[in-house]
Amino acid sequence: MSPHEPGPRATSGRLTANLDEAAEVLRRGGLVAFPTETVYGLGARARDPRAVAKIFAAKGRPADHPLIVHLARASEVVSWAVAVPDAAHQLAEAFWPGPLTLILRRAPGVPDEVTGGQETIGLRIPRHPVARALLEKVGDGVAAPSANRFGRVSPTHAEHVSSELGDRVELILEGGSCEVGLESTIVDCSGTTPVILRPGAITQEMLEGVLGAPIRAGGTSEVRAPGLLASHYAPRASVSLLTGAEIAARAEELVASGARVGVLASEIPEGLPSEVERFELSRDLEGVARELYARLREVDRRGVDVLLVVPPAEVGVGRAIVDRLRRAAAPRLQG
Ligand code: TXA
Ligand code: MG
Repeated sequence: MSPHEPGPRATSGRLTANLDEAAEVLRRGGLVAFPTETVYGLGARARDPRAVAKIFAAKGRPADHPLIVHLARASEVVSWAVAVPDAAHQLAEAFWPGPLTLILRRAPGVPDEVTGGQETIGLRIPRHPVARALLEKVGDGVAAPSANRFGRVSPTHAEHVSSELGDRVELILEGGSCEVGLESTIVDCSGTTPVILRPGAITQEMLEGVLGAPIRAGGTSEVRAPGLLASHYAPRASVSLLTGAEIAARAEELVASGARVGVLASEIPEGLPSEVERFELSRDLEGVARELYARLREVDRRGVDVLLVVPPAEVGVGRAIVDRLRRAAAPRLQG
């Protein structure tokens, strides 16, 4: 960055419910954080490379990592993607607006800043009413990653955005807490058969139900989807996944060594040392998805050093929950 180029400067990060003002900031190249039903996004006008560059600066995200472009309506897809296969049409018809991102072959003229220089583009039509109204007003695609610092937990409340990026974003559009709570399911439709790159609330079973065929899960390279980097979605506390039966003994050892220990589970196991901080999750998987990131933030606020987690069953949205927990538990990236 040249000395004349403004870096991520201190801005107000003001919370607002004013859609006109937010649309105006985006149109003139500013950053606006906005709610979607999955997580809050950090938005910039996707056609404006200078605006898009501000997203990477604010997040501290490597510039070759592609962004999702958010649209108001399916008729806009043709200005961003070409050679859209039947499978993508079927999935869009079934799940848009909603928590599904489709990877398609990019149209000519889509800025490299958005795609990370790749030949594909991620597109999503969110269903959150505030996101939809904002996108309608902007009248063009809005590029937005989750509104967190690179590698950290995604925000599911406006306050999460203001505490983490408040000085790096012009406006934060209020939209309450996110209904889904985990990032969108990503399906790569740019190859011969669709592949799930990131599990989410639109489950493998739901996708297969619409396509009428099995769908493969598991991405390709890490650069294609940094949400697939081993360590991601991570709180400050170190995270270990254990069974309910293993937890009490492990907690005791850790407490004895002087660590501040937390336990996160839908059913808090019996026999824990009294010093252990307890973070109880819902019994239903949708509830766990909705609460998970707020609980991880609370874990950090309470100064927990080691978080012991009993993961839910890997069925339905449980696959996405366990995927995020594994990444939170993975060895941390350097820097
Ligand atoms: O729910 C969501 O998807 C949220 C909301 C704001 O829409 N967004 C989000 O964005 O989670 P982000 O950037 O944090 O994660 C998007 C993931 C990244 O892992 C990125 O690499 C992948 O999507 N992605 C975007 N474009 C891609 C492409 N062309 N090919 C492969 N992966 C892509
Ligand atoms: Mg993210």
